[in-house]
Formats: sequence, structure tokens, C-alpha cells
Amino acid sequence: VENIGAPPLDASVEYEVYPLTAGTKYNFTLITVFEGVNSTGYNFTAVTAPRNAEDFKTVGQNETSITLQWKQVNNIDRYILVVNEEEITVTSSEEFVTHTVSGLTSGTRYKFRLFTVFENVTSSGVNHTAVTAPDNVGEVKVVNQNETSITLKWDKVKDISVYILQYDENGKPRVENIGAPPLDASVEYEVYPLTAGTKYNFTLITVFEGVNSTGYNFTAVTAPRNAEDFKTVGQNETSITLQWKQVNNIDRYILVVNEEEITVTSSEEFVTHTVSGLTSGTRYEFRLFTVFENVTSSGVNHTAVTAPDNVGEVKVVNQNETSITLKWDKVKDISVYILQYDENGKPRVENIDALPLDASVEYEVYPLTAGTKYNFTLITVFEGVNSTGYNFTAVTVPSPPSSAHCEYYAAGYSAYVFWNKPDGVWTTVEVNVIGKYYEVDDSEEQNIIIQGLQPARSYQVSLNSVSGHERRSNSIVFQCSTDPRGVIAGSVIAVLLFCVLVCLAVFIFLKRPDIISRKKSFISGSKRTKRKGKLITATQFADHFNKLNVDDNRGFSEEYEDLAPIGTNQTQKAADLPDNQVRNRFKNVLPYDWCRVKLSTSNGTSDYINASYMPGYNSNREYIASQGPLPSTVSDFWRMIWEQRVKGIVMVTNCTEGGKIKCERYWPADSKPCLYGELLVTIRSEEQNLNWTMREFSVKHRNTSEERSVKHFHFTAWPDHGVPEGSEILIQFRGLVRRHIEKEGARAPTVVHCSAGVGRTGTIIALDVLLQQLEKERAVGIKEFVHKMRLNRPHMVQTESQYVFLHQCIMDALHSNQKPEENIYENADLIYENATALRELR
Ligand SMILES: *[C@@H]1O[C@H](CO)[C@@H](O)[C@H](O)[C@H]1NC(C)=O
Ligand SMILES: *[C@@H]1O[C@H](CO)[C@@H](O)[C@H](O)[C@H]1NC(C)=O
Ligand SMILES: *[C@@H]1O[C@H](CO)[C@@H](O)[C@H](O)[C@H]1NC(C)=O
Ligand SMILES: *[C@@H]1O[C@H](CO)[C@@H](O)[C@H](O)[C@H]1NC(C)=O
Ligand SMILES: *[C@@H]1O[C@H](CO)[C@@H](O)[C@H](O)[C@H]1NC(C)=O
Ligand SMILES: *[C@@H]1O[C@H](CO)[C@@H](O)[C@H](O)[C@H]1NC(C)=O
Repeated sequence: VENIGAPPLDASVEYEVYPLTAGTKYNFTLITVFEGVNSTGYNFTAVTAPRNAEDFKTVGQNETSITLQWKQVNNIDRYILVVNEEEITVTSSEEFVTHTVSGLTSGTRYKFRLFTVFENVTSSGVNHTAVTAPDNVGEVKVVNQNETSITLKWDKVKDISVYILQYDENGKPRVENIGAPPLDASVEYEVYPLTAGTKYNFTLITVFEGVNSTGYNFTAVTAPRNAEDFKTVGQNETSITLQWKQVNNIDRYILVVNEEEITVTSSEEFVTHTVSGLTSGTRYEFRLFTVFENVTSSGVNHTAVTAPDNVGEVKVVNQNETSITLKWDKVKDISVYILQYDENGKPRVENIDALPLDASVEYEVYPLTAGTKYNFTLITVFEGVNSTGYNFTAVTVPSPPSSAHCEYYAAGYSAYVFWNKPDGVWTTVEVNVIGKYYEVDDSEEQNIIIQGLQPARSYQVSLNSVSGHERRSNSIVFQCSTDPRGVIAGSVIAVLLFCVLVCLAVFIFLKRPDIISRKKSFISGSKRTKRKGKLITATQFADHFNKLNVDDNRGFSEEYEDLAPIGTNQTQKAADLPDNQVRNRFKNVLPYDWCRVKLSTSNGTSDYINASYMPGYNSNREYIASQGPLPSTVSDFWRMIWEQRVKGIVMVTNCTEGGKIKCERYWPADSKPCLYGELLVTIRSEEQNLNWTMREFSVKHRNTSEERSVKHFHFTAWPDHGVPEGSEILIQFRGLVRRHIEKEGARAPTVVHCSAGVGRTGTIIALDVLLQQLEKERAVGIKEFVHKMRLNRPHMVQTESQYVFLHQCIMDALHSNQKPEENIYENADLIYENATALRELR
């Protein structure tokens, strides 16, 4: 209750009710008081203004709208928002009032005023300033790019000078704030550093008073790196092959040559490309670009040349015995040439520099050998690149025969002229006697009989060799005398001789007709011996060997094949009997009936053993070739040794080889005696060498107690079907055997066996016989002896290699006879023997 005194002179009263609560409706009663007496009272209502809203702010915006928010004022649900002199009434009873003002202009600053309304009374109002989001940039151009940077350019948005560029580099986000110069209408910006050959996703944001635009997305790429190792890997006259290393993940390249672009697509690690259709001997500039998303690298250069052409033709302008002069036209003014040829088996390479101003080149090749055909290759060289080479041949002039002489012939009416074969290439030797020319070509003997001469005279003879038509050597000239004696004696002697012969013939015809018939039988006899075949003498043997050897042993193969059918039509009945079949180690190696070794049949046992008598150098039963004993034939084997009174056994196999049993061990394992049938065998001694073992057995008959000694020569270094490493060891071994045979007397056969008793057995027997033959006759008949052995037992010398090996042995034996000192350290005894052989040979 408030007493209000009004000022006396004023007609109305003004009174401030205070303090009141904001936004409140009051019920007032105003009472007029006169001299202490109250009026009835005048009732009325009035309200206080509401409070302003608090926390008036922007909670969001885009290009066309701004969203505002404020806190509700107690119980009030009406607000007036003023923007751009326009009033917007907002009704809300939410605790936080949100209102979006739309229809605005992008990138623009707006002033807002907010009033609270209570019973039509508005609050004093609060202000707030907000901006709309700016527009994005219209377009971004890539104005430049290289391996490490991209330069961008865009038009400013509404003079806005702040931009943000976002992108990822190497997986890490980068944010760059870009302030544009205020006066320019556009912005240019270099993004740097970047990775070469990479595609980037950029976002460019326009910023207006701290508000971002939505962001403009675009992509741009950096230029790829240039290819490395750009080089030439080959060229010929019309093409150049280039190569370079692949640039990471890139499979497109542009190669520019002669202002022409070639696109090369390849994902190989090393890209190879051949540019063809080029001109020979020309220099080309290449530029190589790497292409990534249509962006090319800066490019690398490479210069290469095509191979030059070969020279067109080479002329021989002069030649003599030691030089050839060549001439050719230059190729495209090229001045460097290489001439290649072999002289005496050694390659020669000559660099030839032509005179710059001449159109052709003349070159003397020197020194050369007379009468030789040279294969030349002339290479043109352009900037270090060779042409393929022009091949041609040229021949030096031959030299004349090195010496010549003549002999008497035909009582002086002719002369016999001899000369040494000229060296090198020549076709004929020209002999000139008293103006007459005779030609002897290189396939003939180097001599000629010159007829039509006079006895007891001297003639000038000149010889020269000729190659082709023009190349004629300098002559050698000498005097040739004809026989002076015949002039007197010739005809007289001839007449006398004729008379004597006639008288002799008449005498024989009348008095001794038997001589004629004897002569006939002598002739037929000699035919028979001839069938034994021809022997090869020691001096001819090397030639013979080489002849058989040519064409991949063709001669040996032919000879060896000739031997295949020998003897095979002879009977083998005993070996094929059912009881005897089990006594054969191989079904196809069976002794022929006529010369098989027969055992005694005293105990009613079989007489069969797989063994054959073999001829030697002196008689037809010097050896027994036998199969290696089977478990069931060991005692038969010893029976044969005993019955044939054998003093030596030559074993040329091991008991097992390559895991296969080749031969039963038919002698005791240790010093204890073993009984085989009726024979008690004891090892008396054993001496092992690298390649053989020597044993001495004592063999005692159980019934008679007779005891004999048998030598065992066991060669351990021979592979089956093959041949030993070299002939030397086997020749030594054979020497041991031979000395034993000679010491013990050759009355009894020597048993030789391997597994089948034909291959190695045949080879060692043949070797022994042939070496004797060589020693005694200075000649050998290898084929003839193998032929002879094949008549006694099939397959003797079982393989071609063994047959060749026999020849090799003879070669080596001949060879070592010439140089006996070579073997001294090996075996003194053997050397002694070889030396003997040598003496006998001479
Ligand atoms: C801006 O925001 C308002 C309200 O959220 C919306 O209606 C309008 O579509 C938006 N405009 C653009 C260009 O995004
Ligand atoms: C790439 O271009 C920028 C500007 O154009 C330059 O500064 C830079 O050296 C260039 N980089 C290379 C590798 O060329
Ligand atoms: C604008 O964008 C940048 C980059 O994305 C960001 O860091 C910043 O917070 C943004 N500003 C606003 C107001 O959103
Ligand atoms: C050069 O080499 C190319 C490619 O190897 C081949 O096609 C062309 O035949 C060759 N030309 C000559 C003349 O050898
Ligand atoms: C050219 O030929 C010569 C002679 O054969 C040879 O030594 C040289 O290496 C060759 N040059 C080239 C580039 O092949
Ligand atoms: C030229 O001779 C060389 C060497 O003798 C040979 O390798 C080459 O194949 C020959 N070229 C021709 C085209 O005959």
C-alpha cells in the first residue's frame, strides 16, 4: 500500500511502482483520499515488461539459412525476431527455442534482434550477428603440374580471401589455409611437395567470417617420373631397339622420334621397344615420356644410331705371295672399317681409317701366307656401331714348289721330274721344258715324265704353281740332265735279254713241264693264305686307325658289323640239352659243339661246361674262354682246371658289379682250404694292387694227393660292357699274364673268364695275341683275329667299344714303343719287356 502525494500545481499524477517482478501482471486498486475519507477505490491491472531471452546464438547455417537458438524466458511462449526490418513472431514453449531463418543470401552478415513478448509487452530486446555459409568456388583449374607440385587456380567467391585446401598425402591428411591477395579476382596456389605420378582428391573450402562452405571436391594428378636407364639394347640397319626401366605402376609411354609420337604400352619391369623403318647409318634423337592419367613426365632424351650398311662390293685390285690389296666404295662417307680374317689359325682384326675426302678405300692386307684362301669380313662402323659384315674370300698367290730335281728315265729319251708339293691353295703345277707346258694338278703325284728328250743333254726346267687362272707364282728354274749311258748300251742289252728269255722258255717247255704245274699249285696256295686277310703294318697303323675313326667311327662300325654273322651257323647242341641248360649263365652265350671244352665223364657226370678253346698266336688251343662259374658249376670249373692242367686263370670281372652277381666266388674266402668236388683249394698267397689282385692257389686232388699250383690273375678295374679307363693298365696286366705263360711253358691252355666269357675275355685274349703279332711281325690283323675267335665262340669281343679299344691299345703300344722312358716309374719289369720289344721291332 503506497501513499502517493501529488504535486499541487500539476493536473495529473505520475507514479512509478517499483520494484516489481518482470513479466508479471499486477492487480492494482487506486484509492482517492479527501480529508481522510477514502473513495471506493479504482481497480485496474498492469504488467511489467518480460526479461530478454538469454543465450541467443547461432547453432547452424548454410548458404541460404541461419539457425538461431535461445533459452526460454519463464512461462513466456512468444518472441519477436527482427531481421532486415522484418518481424518474425516465434511461438515456442520449449526450454531452448530454435528457429531457422531461411531465404537468406550466402556469405552474408545478418543482424538479428530478439524480443520477448508478455501480455503484448515486449522486452527491451537482444542483438545477435550471424553469417550464412559462403558458396563453394565455381571451378578449380590445374594450371601446371610436375613431379612434385600441382598449381591450382580459381575465381574468388564474393571477394572472400580465405580458403582451406584439404587432401591426403601418403595416407596423412593435410589442411592448408590459403589467404588470397585482397585485390585479385582469382587465386593461384601451388600445392607442394607432392609425390610423382599420384592422383589426389582435393577439397577446397571457402571461409567467410569463420564459416566454411560445404567444400568443392576435385582431383588432380602429379606428373609421373621419367623412365630411368633409357638406352639402346640393339640395332640393325633399319631398326633400333630401346629399353628402359618401368616407372612404378605405369604402363603407358610416349616415345618421340622424328616428331612422331609412338605410344608404347607395357607393364614389364624392363620395357623394350623396337623402332623400325629407319634409315641405315643414321643418328636418331629419342625422347621418352611417361604417361599417368594423361599427364606426361618431363621426358628424357637418348641418342642412338642405326647400323650402317655393309660395303657393296670389295674388289681385289692386286695380290702377290704375301699381300692382297682390296678396294671398295665408301658407305655414306663412313670412314671407319674393320677387316677380320684368320691368319695361320689366329684371328686378326684390322681397323681401317679411310681418307675423308676419297670416295673409295684401298687397303693392303699384309703380311699373308702364300697360296692361302682367306675368308675376310669387312665391317662398316658408324659411330661405334658395326654393320653385319660383308664376307668375301681372296687368295694369295701360291708359292712355287720348294724344291725339285730330275732323274734319268727311259735311257735318256725322257726325264723324270719330281718336286715337293707347294704349300697352300693351288690348282696345278706348271712344268715348262723347252717351251712346252705340262700341267699336273693337285690331286696327282707330284712328278711327271717328260718325253721327247734326247739322251746326254741338259734341259732347263721351270716350275711354278698356279691357283685359278691369273695367280701364278714365281718360277723355280733348274737344269735337268738326261741319261747319257743308254745311248750306247740300251738296245744291245735289250736284244740279249730277249734271246735269253726265249731260250729259257723253250728249255722249260721241252724238258721240265712239271715246273709249270707246280707253279699253278703255288698260285692257288697263295690265294688261300690271302684269305686270312691283310695285316696292317706298324707304320701304317696310325693311318689305318684314323681312317676307321673318321665320320664318328664309321669305319669301326662297318668292320664290326661285318663280324656279326661270323660263326653263327655252327651247332651248339650240347649246350642246348635240357640237363645242361642250367649250366649256362646266359641263354645266348653257348659254346659251339666243335670246340667246347669237354670234362671227363668218369663218375657218370655230364661232360658239359660253358667253355671254349681259343686260338692264340702259336696254336689253336692256347686259351680256354669260359663263363664265370655259377654256384652249381664251381666244382665243374675246378675239374676243368685240373683236367686241362691249367697253370693260370685270368679273371677280368669282379664277383659283383653294380649290385649284380657277375661270377660266383670260386676260391676260399680265407686261408682255410675249401673242397670243390674232389679238389681241395687253398690260397697260398694274395697280393692286391690298385687295378688287379694276384693269387696263388694250391689245388690238391683228394684221391691221389697230387698237388699243383695255379696262378690267379684277377683284373678288377674293368666296367662290364665297357672298356677300362686307358689302355696302359690293361697292357701292363697283360704283360704279367704273358710272362707267366712264357715262364710256365705254354703247353696247357690258360683259362680266361669274365661273366659271359666273351666280351672282356675276348678283348684280353685278342690283346695278348695281337701284341705278340705286332712284336714278331711288325704288323697286326685285328679284324682277322676277332674273326678267328668268333669261329670258336660267339660274341667274342662283345661290343664295338671293345673293338675300338683293341685298336686304341695297339696305337698306344706303338706309341709307347717309341718313347719307352715314359713308363719307367710304373713297373720296371714291364719297361724291360717293352724295351725288348722295341729292340726286336728295329
Ligand atoms: C539450408 O538449411 C535449411 C534448413 O536446415 C534447409 O532447408 C536447406 O535446404 C539448406 N540449404 C542448402 C543449400 O543446403
Ligand atoms: C615443379 O614446378 C615448381 C613450380 O612450377 C618448381 O618450383 C619445381 O622446381 C618443379 N619441380 C621439378 C622437379 O621440376
Ligand atoms: C572449417 O574447415 C576446417 C578444415 O576442415 C576446420 O578445421 C574448421 O573447424 C572448419 N570451421 C568450421 C567453423 O566448421
Ligand atoms: C632388324 O631387326 C628387326 C627387329 O629385330 C627385324 O624385324 C628386321 O628384320 C631386321 N632387319 C634386318 C635387315 O636384319
Ligand atoms: C665391332 O666389331 C669389332 C670387331 O669384331 C669388335 O671388336 C667390336 O666389339 C664391335 N663393336 C660393337 C659395338 O659390337
Ligand atoms: C660372315 O662370316 C662370319 C665369320 O666367318 C660368319 O659368322 C657369318 O655368318 C658370315 N655372314 C654371312 C652373311 O655369311
